[in-house]
Amino acid sequence: MKLIDYIDSHRESNLEELSEFLRIPSVSTKSEHKPDIERAADWVAEKLRAAGVDKVEIAQTKLHPIVYGESTHQPGKPTILFYGHYDVQPAEPLNLWTSPAFEPTVRDGNLYARGTADDKGQVHIHLKALEAIYKVEGKLPFNIKAIVEGEEEVGSVSLWDFVNANRERLKADALVVSDTSMLTKGVPSITYGLRGLNYYQIEITGPAQDLHSGVFGGAVPNPITILAEMIAKLHDKNFRVTVPGFYDRVAKVSAKERKALNALPRKEKEFRKTVGAPDLCGEKGFTIPERLWIRPTLELNGIWGGYMGEGSKTVIPSKAFAKMSTRLVPNQDPATIAKQVERYIRKLLPKTVKCEFHVLSMGKPWVAPYTHPIFQKAIHALEQGFGKKAVFIREGGSIPFVTQMHDTFKVPCVLLGFGLPDENAHAPDEHIALENYFGGIKSVALFYDQLARP
Ligand code: BES
Ligand code: MN
Ligand code: MN
Repeated sequence: MKLIDYIDSHRESNLEELSEFLRIPSVSTKSEHKPDIERAADWVAEKLRAAGVDKVEIAQTKLHPIVYGESTHQPGKPTILFYGHYDVQPAEPLNLWTSPAFEPTVRDGNLYARGTADDKGQVHIHLKALEAIYKVEGKLPFNIKAIVEGEEEVGSVSLWDFVNANRERLKADALVVSDTSMLTKGVPSITYGLRGLNYYQIEITGPAQDLHSGVFGGAVPNPITILAEMIAKLHDKNFRVTVPGFYDRVAKVSAKERKALNALPRKEKEFRKTVGAPDLCGEKGFTIPERLWIRPTLELNGIWGGYMGEGSKTVIPSKAFAKMSTRLVPNQDPATIAKQVERYIRKLLPKTVKCEFHVLSMGKPWVAPYTHPIFQKAIHALEQGFGKKAVFIREGGSIPFVTQMHDTFKVPCVLLGFGLPDENAHAPDEHIALENYFGGIKSVALFYDQLARP
């Protein structure tokens, strides 16, 4: 087949081009990388044009630019809205990378660099799939609209304004996203559910300033001890979240769906190996896939305060801090959950300290049926591209845009994930399996190509 031959004969050049993209350190959370963000946006715009997407623009926002492009010359043919992000998480701690984060390196069948799996490598899969169709067929035989944003890793703050300002223009028959993982190697997967994410920061203040712990210790409140005590009360011995009302609106998942999720071909042993902890834990009464995908959680993401430098310093700190998040499932309401969490934190707070509670971001969960015929086309394309059986999974991570688009436009959302759970997204030594990168290009090209046919 000409399309597959074209893709196979461009393996080296595609990999080289992806490496160029990965060398741009487009870290969205740090202002020092603003020029890199601009460069990455320009780079994506140029590659969209090369793939036959003729109307491409870079929309400025209050923070980072959104790259938008469309090719809509096929009336009567389906219209796909593609979404991805060109921004990445910071690479720190740098000393834990085997090869530098922004110098892409191939080792053992994997490509290592920040953004390989999340999400530049997966965006590039679509750019190259489109380009292959465009080059082989001389046109894009369906309609495509592409949004590639630069703020996903900081909560997609500007994206919603862009969508609202372009509602008519963004109409499509389906949303296609590649920003998730496969269940495990050799099992191509379509994700039909994501958890929502609320993020919080807590600041506890005791003494008006740091105090000598010998002169004052024993007679004053210690914010670190108090924060630690409060945090320890947020789960019970069965790993259930103790925030009153937290589980009130959690949707009951049918026995049939639980059975299907539990029957998916992933070995517990393999999951344990990926985690690398001495043992696992989680909410009593639920299996690992259920704990990850259908149950809500509360996680501590950071805790600090007092003296953290070399050696010792005898001090009672004035302040202690924690960063914390909740992952939400249907039908939990983010605003209600945020209020419940704050109320409970304040209830646990002794009178000896003050507390500031900040909600940094909120996001709804998303779960949708996969009954639309487009899902069968997607499954078929994945099976052809990988030569393996494909499955439907849910995921524990969050992509705010998917939820918003689904709620607003009621479109089917097709999440084709080409990462793997052990690919160290957000961590040192992030990588993508070359077999998934190349298999991804083939699958996506076959998928788009099939959409043009009856
Ligand atoms: N690509 C991830 C989301 C993801 C990863 C979903 C793996 C499913 C499986 C995305 O870039 C991400 O990191 N999202 C953040 C939330 C965001 C608001 C910062 C997350 O899930 O923590
Ligand atoms: Mn991502
Ligand atoms: Mn991410």
